[in-house]
Amino acid sequence: MEFCVTVLFCSCVILSALLVLLLLLRSYRLGRSHLPPGTYGLPLIGETLQLISAYKSDNPEPFVDSRVSRYGPIFTTHIFGEPTVFSADPDLNRFIMSNEGKLFDCSYPGSISNLLGKHSLLLMKGSLHKRMHSLTMSFANSTIIREHLLLDIDRLIRLNLNSWTDRVLLMEEAKKITFELTMKQLMSFDPCEWTERLKNEYVLLIEGFFSVPIPLFSTTYRRAIMARTRVAEELSWVVRQRRTSCEAGERKNDMLGALLAGGDHFSDEQIVDFLLALLVAGYETTSTIMTLAVKFLTDTPLALAQIKEEHDQIRANKNDPEALVEWNDYKSMKFTQCVVNETLRMANIIGGIFRRTMTDISIKGYTIPKGWKVFASFRAVHLNPDHYKDARTFDPWRWQNNSEAAGSGNVYTPFGGGPRLCPGYELARVVLSVFLHRLVTRFSWVPAEEDKLVFFPTTRTQKRYPIIVRERNLSKSHVRTG
Ligand code: HEM
Repeated sequence: MEFCVTVLFCSCVILSALLVLLLLLRSYRLGRSHLPPGTYGLPLIGETLQLISAYKSDNPEPFVDSRVSRYGPIFTTHIFGEPTVFSADPDLNRFIMSNEGKLFDCSYPGSISNLLGKHSLLLMKGSLHKRMHSLTMSFANSTIIREHLLLDIDRLIRLNLNSWTDRVLLMEEAKKITFELTMKQLMSFDPCEWTERLKNEYVLLIEGFFSVPIPLFSTTYRRAIMARTRVAEELSWVVRQRRTSCEAGERKNDMLGALLAGGDHFSDEQIVDFLLALLVAGYETTSTIMTLAVKFLTDTPLALAQIKEEHDQIRANKNDPEALVEWNDYKSMKFTQCVVNETLRMANIIGGIFRRTMTDISIKGYTIPKGWKVFASFRAVHLNPDHYKDARTFDPWRWQNNSEAAGSGNVYTPFGGGPRLCPGYELARVVLSVFLHRLVTRFSWVPAEEDKLVFFPTTRTQKRYPIIVRERNLSKSHVRTG
């Protein structure tokens, strides 16, 4: 017995000594290589658990705040299995984004690549990425939205709102609208039984992005991989049909049409991966921003009253109360644009981006070695009181005086920047604006129950924001006659 206790005691001492040695060695290396200051936390897991538990709470900011006040806006940590340089510095963030493909490369874990498919825009690199990025941009730019997409955006939003009675789960409705819009934009499909079935598979696929990515242990991830196969099969079928009709001279004005008609001769697999990644990139992001804009407005009655007034006025200027939203209407939504900007700033749906250094990088007195992971945090910049007064308060009016809020492009980057700037940035803004227009002019609402923001694994509301809606009675005096 005594022997066992001694052995146990000795093992503990040796293990502790090894642990201390390991930590000393790591901090020695950290000091020598002029890395930004910081802590690595525990071996292997680093500071991942602290990060996750902060983002699971309703106030995640202290995780970054405490490190920024100790080490400054650029610090070293160890998260998700790797030492990582964390940047809360707007200049470094801009430097990272604009040197994409030269000094930094995007890096996704294999589990994400499997879900996206190897030909997705998010995984493409080099000249192919450049070409496909600009093709995607050209399919969601303001001219295309004005001349083609706006009509469908307005129509599909109205169609969905027609079915709203009493209790509505706003996040679910927003997802439905976003999915239908994307199917229309990519492949000219109107909602039907087939798109509904595809959506059900697609939802399983999306869940995979937020699961533990180990097929053996995670049913969600396994299910997502299987759903991906089925979604890809369905999309391949569409691509084959469209290829045949394209060869017969039929051309549709959508993203699939552009991919088939271009001189690139993409394979079916390439096109499927490409379309699928576009569906993924716009789905959770746009639907979340739609839900959170409504939540922020509901919690800020003055802003809600002002936005209602703006949209009632747009309706009042039309002869026909059913008239479509036109480009000029969108352009006249000045306060709405402040609400959109502020929602994107506060919500930070994409909180930041991971990259990997392609070479040793010296910046701001530090050296980040080749192969290291860096995280450019948009959230840390957007919520920093040095850049925004009362940074953690929803204040759409700050955007009325652009000089404060948009003073430097570096401090406002909800859509990223550089060669990987979000190609859907204008589309997302238009969808949100038209949605708000149709919502506030048609309904008034109250939250059905208390719901709060959560931040892990993504920013959203805990209960998908249930609301009780009532049709508004817009007085006839609001509608101009003659
Ligand atoms: C509020 C809505 C949205 C937000 C906040 C958002 C944000 C972002 C951000 C920050 C990036 C940069 C990622 C990186 O640098 O690694 C990005 C990339 C991307 N976004 Fe969006 N996005 C939104 C909506 C959309 C929509 C509607 C589409 C559909 C067209 C879309 C398609 C993409 C694609 C394809 C990329 C990858 C670009 C590339 O790697 O070259 N996004 N988005």
